[in-house]
Amino acid sequence: MSIRYETRGPVAVLTMDNPPVNGLGHAVRTGLREGLERAELDPGVTAIVITGAGKAFSGGADITEFKSGKQLLEPSLRVVIRALEASTKPVVAAIHSVAMGGGLELALGCHFRVVAKGTKIALPEVKLGLLPGAGGTQRLPRAIGLETAANLIASGETVLAEALAKTALFDRVVDGDVLEGALAFAEEVVREKRPLKRLCDVKVEHPNAQGFLQFARNTVTTMSKNFPAPLVCLEAVAASTGPFDAGLRKEGELFQKLMATPESRALRHFFFAERAASKIGDVPPDTTLRPVKQVAIIGAGTMGGGIAMSFANAGIPVTLLEVKPEALDKGLGTIRKNYESSFKKGKLTEEKMAQRLALIQGTLSYDGIAQADLVIEAVFEELGVKEKVFTALDQVMKPGAILASNTSTLDLNKIAAFTKRPGDVVGLHFFSPANVMKLLEVVRGAKTSKDVLATVMDLAKKIGKTAVVSGVCDGFIGNRMIERYSIQASFLLEEGALPSQVDRALEQWGMAMGPFRMGDLAGNDIGWAIRKRLYVEHPELVYSKIGDKLCELGRFGQKTGKGWYLYEPGRRDAIVDPSVDEMVLAYSKELGITRRAISDEEIVERCIFALINEGAKIVEEGIAQRASDIDVVYLSGYGFPIHRGGPMLYADEVGLVNVVAAMRRYARISRGDSKFWEPAPLLAKLAAEGRSFHG
Ligand code: NAI
Repeated sequence: MSIRYETRGPVAVLTMDNPPVNGLGHAVRTGLREGLERAELDPGVTAIVITGAGKAFSGGADITEFKSGKQLLEPSLRVVIRALEASTKPVVAAIHSVAMGGGLELALGCHFRVVAKGTKIALPEVKLGLLPGAGGTQRLPRAIGLETAANLIASGETVLAEALAKTALFDRVVDGDVLEGALAFAEEVVREKRPLKRLCDVKVEHPNAQGFLQFARNTVTTMSKNFPAPLVCLEAVAASTGPFDAGLRKEGELFQKLMATPESRALRHFFFAERAASKIGDVPPDTTLRPVKQVAIIGAGTMGGGIAMSFANAGIPVTLLEVKPEALDKGLGTIRKNYESSFKKGKLTEEKMAQRLALIQGTLSYDGIAQADLVIEAVFEELGVKEKVFTALDQVMKPGAILASNTSTLDLNKIAAFTKRPGDVVGLHFFSPANVMKLLEVVRGAKTSKDVLATVMDLAKKIGKTAVVSGVCDGFIGNRMIERYSIQASFLLEEGALPSQVDRALEQWGMAMGPFRMGDLAGNDIGWAIRKRLYVEHPELVYSKIGDKLCELGRFGQKTGKGWYLYEPGRRDAIVDPSVDEMVLAYSKELGITRRAISDEEIVERCIFALINEGAKIVEEGIAQRASDIDVVYLSGYGFPIHRGGPMLYADEVGLVNVVAAMRRYARISRGDSKFWEPAPLLAKLAAEGRSFHG
């Protein structure tokens, strides 16, 4: 039952009951319309109250209905709202906890609104590249004024009901039980024979509406690069200054227009992809989790410190273990400095800083961590060092403790084999800085047990991370793909491009940072070390040696003040270095290459299509559970432009057949291994069948 109907004296109460947040799916909409009709026809009913059961008034539309992009089943929310508005008996919304999107639009269709203090109010559709399409852009300005409504609708931001208490949005703000408050209010309305207030009858008043709207358009245009929705939201709000019905028609047209944009498709895709990523095919959702109340981290370096902060920020106590007191002091000192800097910037209160610091302890002895429920190793990236650590952990850790490694390149199965409990071993690949980056690759070893996986996926959510499961392979999902991208970036230099051109082309396309600026940030020596290992392990792979040349000059990036670019002390702005350009030209000459002009389009396609092809292999091999998981990795960890929806969705948008055709073209003209551009079997098959990665 999605709607409960009951009478409280002369008032009919319609309670939406569709956990978790009373999403306005088809059954709820039908139930509301039927309940309204029943109340209208019952002569004993003098007023109607609408509320939500559980922890929300309503979180809004049932977004799964948007997924297909098809027309919604009738009655649409608009039809339900029209019926509420047209009711001859007073309709009062009893709003509490959360009224968002369609939930707020529903409330706007009621004649009166009683709200509980602390209720969160928003029309967040713009965050999915859409606009509120059930009259929200027309009724909200009539309730709270043009400017505040434009702000809320174009930003999608959430406000507390109290902030809008003095507007016509709320007739009463209550502290206690909102249903009781609404019932009392409804009886008052009936007793006093108050006229019904319909927002559709209100006129939007503003001394200079056109002037304000022009100002708002200018502001939104500069702030919403790559996203059409905020500006279109404003167009819909602008229509609220005219007649209501015309405005509603305009809103409908603009909604359909946004629904068809690739940007909205990308945002909706990411929304669903993130949710899908948290599910593991063969791990039942009701798997019993292991309790994780105390965490230990081995190694207090760059990663160990950041990981410790992630747990402390979520209120989970952490102990850091180091071998040498100096290293421990240094690690704890860095953590303290990081918190102090957040405090100085006003991002953290003194009290919170103290609480978090108190949750982080240091130790030099394994005895100090034996009782931890989860231990994460973040020591040097050498198998021998990992072996020592895991052998020790196997001996000291209590039974049932989860043993995790933050390794970024080593074989997790080998690490698990250093213990007698490989089922308890899992990879937790955090990204740097670990207290900031949202992405967490959960690496599933051949023997990792299901409850360990379920536990770490749940824990990831608790510490605010977006977790994606990866199988064991070199580089896991993200770094394995980025390696292919970097290979193309380097060959482009040999063939005719310069580092700044490659970076600019990809940044203009939307990447947060081009490959060479990214290398300078992460440290070019890291990639160099990995390549040196791969030269031995995989002599068949063909690499450009241009990055090695740079590293031989000690140009490791920002940390050495110079890499592909120059950096002034204490600054991160990349300054083009003519000597690097000369080095690139000289290297082409040394290889006997006649350099050619390379277009930005070629740069983008070669780098991005290289990612896509490796992504296809990763899906085919089962390293990723689904193509959308790869998109989540790239959107949350690699600065891939959100409006393009991740590499795999982007491939679908381009058309897989076009991706394959371009790859064949690049196989003829680009340097390197001719096999590089061989389409992955899955990509070739889907392209030949005219299909896409996401079906
Ligand atoms: P780091 O060099 O900053 O820190 C390593 C720390 O481990 C040092 O403080 C060292 O004293 C300590 N250590 C070494 N041997 C130890 C032992 N036997 N017992 C206890 N402590 C020991 O290295 P970083 O960058 O933090 O990397 C750690 C791990 O995280 C590596 O496996 C690395 O591949 C991985 N990783 C690194 C990322 C990065 O961007 N730096 C990103 C993701 C993973």
